[in-house]
Amino acid sequence: MQIDIGIAEKERKEIAEGLSKVLADTYTLYLKTHNFHWNVTGPMFQTLHLMFETHYNELALAVDLVAERIRALGFPAPGTYAEFIRLSSIAEEPGVPAAQDMIKKLVQGHETVVRTARSMWAAPEKAQDQPTLDLLTQRMQVHEKTAWMLRSLLA
Ligand SMILES: [Fe+2]
Repeated sequence: MQIDIGIAEKERKEIAEGLSKVLADTYTLYLKTHNFHWNVTGPMFQTLHLMFETHYNELALAVDLVAERIRALGFPAPGTYAEFIRLSSIAEEPGVPAAQDMIKKLVQGHETVVRTARSMWAAPEKAQDQPTLDLLTQRMQVHEKTAWMLRSLLA
């Protein structure tokens, strides 16, 4: 059945492509955060191990919301590592960084998702796609707040 929500297919496609980048960034950051939860060491172990767990749980729920918005706009959601690597602006982390470097890399990751979300803002705004703008706003708020909290650990 055709989608008839008041946004033309061309616009829906452009928005879905932007959301796919946000999804890829979020999934990559999810995996990085979970990886750091497993591998962090040092005097801040307990704090960081638990904080990273809170963050990766939030990210795991967020990818579902972004992917399902893409589906509601009528397009397939990317769901493979190959697609995420192609679409993501966040690089994977080889090896095990020191705890302080993990924090810095996560700050950069959260800031990257915010920039990706901001860079795709114009298309849903022009199309009056309020549900996408609402989702982007919420995601930007979470990532900016998380970046602040992580940054605050660095003093
Ligand atoms: Fe765990």
